[in-house]
Amino acid sequence: MFAAEVALGLSTQWLGHAHLHHARIGSTNDDAAAWARDGAPHGALVTADAQDAGRGRFGRVWHSPAGAHVYASVVLRPEIADGRWAALGLAVGVGLREGLLRWCDGIGLKWPNDLVVGGRKLAGILCEARWIGSAPQIVVGFGINVKSVGWPEELRASAVALGDLGVDVSPSAVLIAVLDALEPVLDAFATDGFAAVRASYEPACISLGREVVVSRPGGESTRVFAEALDHDGALLVRGEGGLVRVDAGELAPG
Ligand code: BTN
Repeated sequence: MFAAEVALGLSTQWLGHAHLHHARIGSTNDDAAAWARDGAPHGALVTADAQDAGRGRFGRVWHSPAGAHVYASVVLRPEIADGRWAALGLAVGVGLREGLLRWCDGIGLKWPNDLVVGGRKLAGILCEARWIGSAPQIVVGFGINVKSVGWPEELRASAVALGDLGVDVSPSAVLIAVLDALEPVLDAFATDGFAAVRASYEPACISLGREVVVSRPGGESTRVFAEALDHDGALLVRGEGGLVRVDAGELAPG
């Protein structure tokens, strides 16, 4: 049913045509990575109604109740693997946002790639890569909160679903819209890297021009001013030591 609805609704050329849907799975990212190892084509899509081991960035749990939200992972097999792919998550954020704007126009991008509305998280993106010789296999996973089904206490203040904003839409309709919007963004990004999405990313980015606290993957946190984005999507922050690049991390309001 879900897979048939997606197949009927999609207008993409290559994204999501090979599609595995599960009623329940550990993590769609793990399943997509296993499928990639077994030869999944560029653009292959894995979705699930529920995840038992949905993962977020920094090893966090991604809340994945049945039938409520979008849980999706896409396999990408870029021809050229170079530094530009570090900004893939930013490009995916642009694509998801464009797909969701028809239902909600107040969506911001929190650097690097969270979609937020009113300070609460609407969608998250998890990009994972592995190399087979010089050929990268990338899995882009995203979760989009769709139905208003309530939040566990620990997420109540920080998460939001389209349904919480008064939008009544199905997860399959949301998935179709974001895949349709994402495909041209990924095509442009594969050619020109972050430069291809910069003009869309910057005005939507809620992190720029603000005091923020940067938490780096190692655990260290610093209060800085988020000044600009570098040519490749890294965040340029000004702190006591002057202007510094942040390649990866997470931001909180400063
Ligand atoms: C984050 O914001 O921390 C990233 C969240 C990514 C969640 C999605 S849900 C589908 C895919 N499968 C996973 O296990 N994680 C991603």
